Amino acid sequence: MSNSLILAFESSCDDTSVAIIDTDYKVLVNLISSQPQHLEFGGVLPELASRLHMKNIAYLTDAAIREAKLDISDISAIAVSINPGLIGSLIVGLSFAKGLAWSRNIPLITVNHMLAHIFANFIDHPQIKPPFLALVVSGGHTEMVHFKTMTEFELVGKTLDDAAGETFDKCAKLLGLGFPGGPLIDRLAKTGDPGYVDFPRGLKQKTNFNFSYSGLKTSVLTHLSQMDEADIEQHKPDLAASIQAAIVDPLISKSTRYARTNGINTIVIAGGVAANSELRARLAATAAPYGIDTYYPSLKLCMDNAAMVGAAAIPKLNNQSYAELNVNAFSLKGTKTI
Ligand code: KG4
Ligand code: ZN
Repeated sequence: MSNSLILAFESSCDDTSVAIIDTDYKVLVNLISSQPQHLEFGGVLPELASRLHMKNIAYLTDAAIREAKLDISDISAIAVSINPGLIGSLIVGLSFAKGLAWSRNIPLITVNHMLAHIFANFIDHPQIKPPFLALVVSGGHTEMVHFKTMTEFELVGKTLDDAAGETFDKCAKLLGLGFPGGPLIDRLAKTGDPGYVDFPRGLKQKTNFNFSYSGLKTSVLTHLSQMDEADIEQHKPDLAASIQAAIVDPLISKSTRYARTNGINTIVIAGGVAANSELRARLAATAAPYGIDTYYPSLKLCMDNAAMVGAAAIPKLNNQSYAELNVNAFSLKGTKTI
């Protein structure tokens, strides 16, 4: 089925997004309505997120179809992310997608949000072919997934405690920065010295492909409690750079080592932390001498968006692997649920 159009929905956290993508990964429109209303709470308020999705989703859908100069009758399939995520938020997107699919008799395709983050890479780099290693790094996930084909994959490493993005956010909070902390640490770190504090790198053993970040968080807390306010203020960029290095180093060393030892010559990064400038630059520089190519999505596609949900639905549309209308959303974490 070449060049059919997919209308896709993403509402798993605090971004409502509606996109239209064709089966050659060409994005016709990708509208994102973010929710700054959470900022004053220093994190996402699930109840508020659901209500804002409810308020925005119909208007956003209307705007997407109009912007693409299409009619709903031009759409071949409706895609929606159903896990993992905030359950109330997921249900808003799924219910809206179901209603549209049912009323217009359009096939419904359900998508795992983490798989969608990986598929964001194909929008920018459709030349990527399996086998490849996907390093999935977001606010809730840190996983390495070995793709043998586009639809057969194995989880080969994961965090045993906190996720990489969660660690960026928690350490940023300790430093007195805002939320989300990842982009703020990334920016501050550009002028800092990553060798200022040698924070611990979790699970350093060469044969271990899992990650651990809880020791780092404790170590940052202990270190900051031994510094005075003025010192912290003066060395904020150095602290940010040192924290960033401790988060990013294991991601780079473990993904490159796994690829090398398993004959994989492509690594893709996915999820919000794939926006990190240090991770992008240093992973590419570390992997290149081994003949390993690295890919990451453009910044907009690293964030939660519906175009990536549509991209992940393409193999399912090609196989006519449609969902029944009694399908439910669930908040379970992990690519094992894809
Ligand atoms: O994938 P995402 O948008 O939402 C989840 O599904 O979790 O990821 C959000 C996470 C947050 O923890 C945020 O701090 C982190 O991605 N993030 C970054 C950067 N941009 C976003 N972390 C490090 N450096 C960045 N530039
Ligand atoms: Zn996400």
